[in-house]
Order: sequence, then C-alpha cells, then structure tokens
Amino acid sequence: MFLAFETSCDDSAVALLSQDGQVLSHKLATQIKQHAKYGGVVPEIASRRHLTNLPLILNVIQEEYPFSLDELTAVVATNAPGLVGSLLIGLSYAKTIAWLTKKPLLVVDHLEGHLLAPFLSHTDLCFPYLALIASGGHTHLILANDLGDYRLLGRTLDDALGEAFDKVAKMLGLEYPGGPIIEKLADLNTEPLLPLPMPLQKEKTLNFSFSGLKTAIRKIIVERDLYNEKNKLLSLSQFLAQADLETKRKTCQIAASFQDLACRIVEQRFTQACKQTNVRQIALTGGVACNKKLRETLQNFANKKNLKFFAPQPSYCTDNAAMIGFSAYMNYKRNIIMPVNPLTANVSSKSKISSLPISI
Ligand code: KG4
Ligand code: ZN
Repeated sequence: MFLAFETSCDDSAVALLSQDGQVLSHKLATQIKQHAKYGGVVPEIASRRHLTNLPLILNVIQEEYPFSLDELTAVVATNAPGLVGSLLIGLSYAKTIAWLTKKPLLVVDHLEGHLLAPFLSHTDLCFPYLALIASGGHTHLILANDLGDYRLLGRTLDDALGEAFDKVAKMLGLEYPGGPIIEKLADLNTEPLLPLPMPLQKEKTLNFSFSGLKTAIRKIIVERDLYNEKNKLLSLSQFLAQADLETKRKTCQIAASFQDLACRIVEQRFTQACKQTNVRQIALTGGVACNKKLRETLQNFANKKNLKFFAPQPSYCTDNAAMIGFSAYMNYKRNIIMPVNPLTANVSSKSKISSLPISI
C-alpha cells in the first residue's frame, strides 16, 4: 500500500492506495473558509492548518480502511511546487512515518500528479497524450510521450487560468475560489455574451495569456459600477440573496462572457497543438478541469476531430492526495523514481515540469 500526503497549497489531503495503484481511500480537509475572506490563500494560515488537519484526516482514513503501517509499500509526499511552509508540513509528516516504520519515502512533483490524474478515472487512457494542466497556479500544455517523458509545449505568460477565474470573481466582490462561483453565475446568464479581446491571437506559439482579458473584464466591471474588490467578499448564496436583479443580470453576463472566452482560448490552443503533434488523445486536468463548460467544449472538439478526450472526475481535478500516491506508484513500479533519505529530503517551490524548456 502507498500512503500519500499532499499539502502544497491550502488543501490538506491524504490517500491510501493499494499495491497496484487502486485508490482505497482518499480524504481532504479544505481550508476554503479560512482563506475565503482574504480573497486568496494566506500561506501562514495554510501551514498551521495542515499541521492540525493531517492527523485528523489520517484517523478518518484508518476508520474507513483499517490498515497497519507495516503493510505500507512506501510513504509518499508532494515535495514541489507550492508554498514552502505548507509543503514542509506534509513532507515532515511523511518523513516521520517513513523513518519510524523504515519504509521507503517517495517524493512527487505536484504537477506530475495532476498530469497523471486522468488515469485515475480512465483505464483506457495510454501514452502519448496532450494535456492541459489548468489550476490556480499553473496553465501548462504538455505532451506526455511516456511516463517521465514530458514536453512542455506552452504555458501562461502571466496569470494561470484558475487565477484569472479567481481574480474576476474577486473584482466582482465574490470570494475565493472564484472558479466554481463564476461557473454557476454563467449558468444563470440570460443575456448575449459581451465582446472580449482574444489574447495572443497572432501568436504562433502555444502560450497563454490571461492578463489582458482580466483587464478588459475589469474595465467592464468598473463601467458598470460593479467593482467591489475592497468590500467584504461574498459567497455565491450571499450574493444571490443580497444583489438586486439588475446587478445579478450584469454580473452573470460578465461571468458567462469570461468563461466563454476562456473556453475558446483553450480550444484554440488544443487545435494548434493537435495539428503540430498528431496526438489522438487529449486531457484536461487541474482544478479548472471541474468546469463543465470547458469539459463540454473539449469533448465537442474531440468528437469533431475524432480524438479521445479524458478528464478526471472532479475530486481528482482539484488538489488531492490520490494523484500523488498514483504518480509515486507508477514511477516506482517502473524504477523511474527511487526512495529518498528521510533525514535529508527537502521541498522546493519550483516544479521540474515548469522548469522544462518550451519545445514544439
Ligand atoms: O488544482 P487546484 O485545486 O489547486 C492548484 O493547484 O492551484 O485548482 C484550484 C483552481 C482555483 O483557481 C479554482 O478557482 C479553480 O481551480 N476551479 C475552477 C472550478 N473549480 C475550481 N475554475 C473554473 N471552474 C470551476 N468549476
Ligand atoms: Zn494543484
């Protein structure tokens, strides 16, 4: 069995996987409430919460799937990228268990966890595939040729896609994480979509940029007198209960217009990337992969082009420890990763995948 810990940002997550990579139990304590009122993650609060959350989650896992530490094949932790204080809590927890039980300690790159997460929901996925990791911190278009053989085709030049969702929500006075709120507001929209500028339209590379779009949205929000970032941020239900009809109408229109353009941007890059690589399988992963409109857009694109589309179930899209345990399982089985020394293992804010040069 693999016992995995994921604490790279604000979610404390633990998972237990069988020796052959099946998820036996995976649990998570979200810290959304603690960070919501600040409109983003506060690193110091996140680290302290991980410290109190991990033993509680491990107890819940033990109750759901009783196991003894002797049964473990390895103990796993995310070691990069992320908030250093947060990563250190998860790694220290895993180190202690590995040291006490004399079991191998394996470390995993969070982005590789996201990249391999589609395998958790789709047994028919195989290499090579083209994946977009779209989360709060990253927007990476990757060609996964084989396990450990990854090419970074494009990345965001400024904001990550999830970050853009979060920032648009914040400008509208809505709390973190903004992605799910924008999605729900967009569903409620009844107005025509607003014209917005398509970023990097003449660009031949597979990079992304969301800051111009964010500025265009900010301009509309200010013009409509909806700019609210400094006031107390509202949850979706508070907003729906408090806002007048006109404010709701205009806000939903902005949310839907932003979401629609985000989907078109992603589809455009997949169109280019598929032409350049001839890959027949595409995948969407990371927190933004929860977005139904984006999934639908890529599913339709795949159907049109006769490609296969894969996205993990939502609980494996957002941060989770199952994908970390699974990445360790796959890489360990193929001798791609080796155990690290619990006395010296360290964390890093940088991902080995983010550090790859962009190649097409
Ligand atoms: O992968 P994740 O849980 O954490 C990071 O590694 O960043 O992704 C979190 C991001 C947040 O920016 C959040 O707003 C976004 O994923 N997100 C969504 C949706 N659900 C989560 N974005 C758009 N639509 C959603 N339904
Ligand atoms: Zn993530």
